[in-house]
Amino acid sequence: MNVAGQVAVITGGASGIGRAAALALAHRGADIVLADIHVERLAAVRQEIAQLGRRVLAIRCDVSRDEDVVRLAERTEAEMGPAGVVMNNAGVVLRGALEEIGLDDWRWCFGINVFGVIRGIHAFLPRMIERRHGWIVNTGSVAGLVALTGEGAPYVASKFAVVGLSEALALYCNQFGVGVSLLCPGGVNTNLAETGRSIGMTPEREISETRMAQTIQGGQELQPELVGELVANAIRDETFLILPEEVHAQLVRARAADINAFLTARLAGGAT
Ligand SMILES: NC(=O)c1ccc[n+]([C@@H]2O[C@H](COP(=O)([O-])OP(=O)(O)OC[C@H]3O[C@@H](n4cnc5c(N)ncnc54)[C@H](O)[C@@H]3O)[C@@H](O)[C@H]2O)c1
Repeated sequence: MNVAGQVAVITGGASGIGRAAALALAHRGADIVLADIHVERLAAVRQEIAQLGRRVLAIRCDVSRDEDVVRLAERTEAEMGPAGVVMNNAGVVLRGALEEIGLDDWRWCFGINVFGVIRGIHAFLPRMIERRHGWIVNTGSVAGLVALTGEGAPYVASKFAVVGLSEALALYCNQFGVGVSLLCPGGVNTNLAETGRSIGMTPEREISETRMAQTIQGGQELQPELVGELVANAIRDETFLILPEEVHAQLVRARAADINAFLTARLAGGAT
């Protein structure tokens, strides 16, 4: 899809990967709708986009609230025009001692990472199908393809849901001329840790769990600007999977070859 002249809506657009994708798309001639709960950062990114000479709308929108996402779609249509691109990107990390994580924390994580994506689809897809035009980008993670650590279970489970949802969505939307991309980065240098919740973890456990996750990911920490460019390229080239690092493709192949052998080897290696 040619992104020039499209209206691109990006949740979690005030920071990190969302901000970088917004800037990359604006550089290529898209007008931008930024949706986020962080109002100061929202205003700053709004300014950055405006300086590129593109139209921009910044909306305080909590993707865990049905009415906020409905309003996002309504205001986008009314004030910017039809949304050609929607990036369901807002996300948070929940991890910790599984026996101590309460259901409210699970609901918080799934309410943003999974239902946030569902709400975006629910609000924008009918209009895209009607117009037979549009592109949806969902932000998953390498953690949605391979379980990184046991302590990351809530995040892993939420991202696995995003991966499955996105694959099915792509299959479904094809008949209507609506495309889908799934972004699965490893480590990216963003503010993600700021909003994360960590339950019942000792400092030592935190450090060893982080190391374990990094070891399994095996990649490098990427800059968000690179990831933003990859998102814009995927929309242009109409690519489904955006997997920035080859080492993660190898992980997926190992897992796909034999899930049981893959997990057994990790458990034998002392993985938690
Ligand atoms: N940083 C990484 O290493 C990494 C790796 C893989 C996947 N991801 C995913 O990338 C996405 C973007 O994260 P990031 O790394 O850029 O982090 P970030 O914290 O820099 O940006 C996320 C943005 O989402 C916003 N947000 C949080 N909750 C929200 C809500 N309820 N409604 C609306 N906005 C909300 C935050 O205010 C923030 O501006 C997330 O889905 C994350 O899971 C990140």
